[in-house]
Amino acid sequence: MLVSETKGISLQATVPAGLDAKEAEVYLRLDPARLPKHIAIIMDGNGRWARRRHLPRVAGHRAGVTSVRYTVECASRIGIPSLTLYAFSEENWKRRPKAEVDFLMKLLARYLKQEVPTLHKNNVRLQYIGRLHELPPFVQEKMEWARQDLSRNTGMLLTLALNYSARSEIVDAFQAIVKAAANNGGIDHLNVDEDLVSQHLYTRHLPDPDLVIRTSGEMRLSNFLLWQLAYAEIYVTPTLWPEFRGVHLLEGIAEYQKRDRRYGGLNESPERSVLARASRALRG
Ligand code: FPP
Repeated sequence: MLVSETKGISLQATVPAGLDAKEAEVYLRLDPARLPKHIAIIMDGNGRWARRRHLPRVAGHRAGVTSVRYTVECASRIGIPSLTLYAFSEENWKRRPKAEVDFLMKLLARYLKQEVPTLHKNNVRLQYIGRLHELPPFVQEKMEWARQDLSRNTGMLLTLALNYSARSEIVDAFQAIVKAAANNGGIDHLNVDEDLVSQHLYTRHLPDPDLVIRTSGEMRLSNFLLWQLAYAEIYVTPTLWPEFRGVHLLEGIAEYQKRDRRYGGLNESPERSVLARASRALRG
């Protein structure tokens, strides 16, 4: 319980256990009934963070692991049902020096080993999306071990996108659809619609993200969840990923709650009531 004073009015609001003072301050501005159900994050800026400190790029990735821990803890504490982190793209795999890719793989394996107790403490479940079979076997083993170990938890579902590309995901979905149809009497009666595509994506068990956060100020989606982010609110923060903390996540949610989500239609906005009145007047 946290008591806050505003212009002499004493407000009492419950702040989830474990939030620090800065996080609690932002949390108190949120409407707990309108939290996003699924947040996706493009973690960017590790290299720039390291360069500004005259450190090797890998030091930025190492510092990024700490940000992952804080972010996951904060999201689970405030009751976000689903968090997806873009940890490693297919392009990262192909376009970065082998030494950096090898480092990232070892870092991921170490993260999984070290973080399982904290993830348990926060009742977090874990899963992965991406072309996982292309990852080194020692990483796949750790991934499976951590996933199984956390599978009985009942809280937030943390999804790590690893060797992930949205275009590859859509290609994989279409291949699976065609293959299933071929095994079921051919493609003549195949009715491809949005539901069918969604059901064949890696994220078929997840709701589409309501909010996507990108760190380090870049205004791109970088081949991340292109189908699923169709109606997501986009929040870009200049904060570099290694400096990202729970308070930044909460600021992103506060910004999300200010947005008017219309899904291509009209919300309860002034224009809408004017239109409704006009149409009633026309009907007489
Ligand atoms: C982007 O920064 C970040 C990555 C390619 C890797 C993300 C990895 C981590 C945050 C740490 C490991 C994660 C887990 C889940 C264990 P960048 O190198 O592209 O930065 P730059 O754009 O400043 O060069």
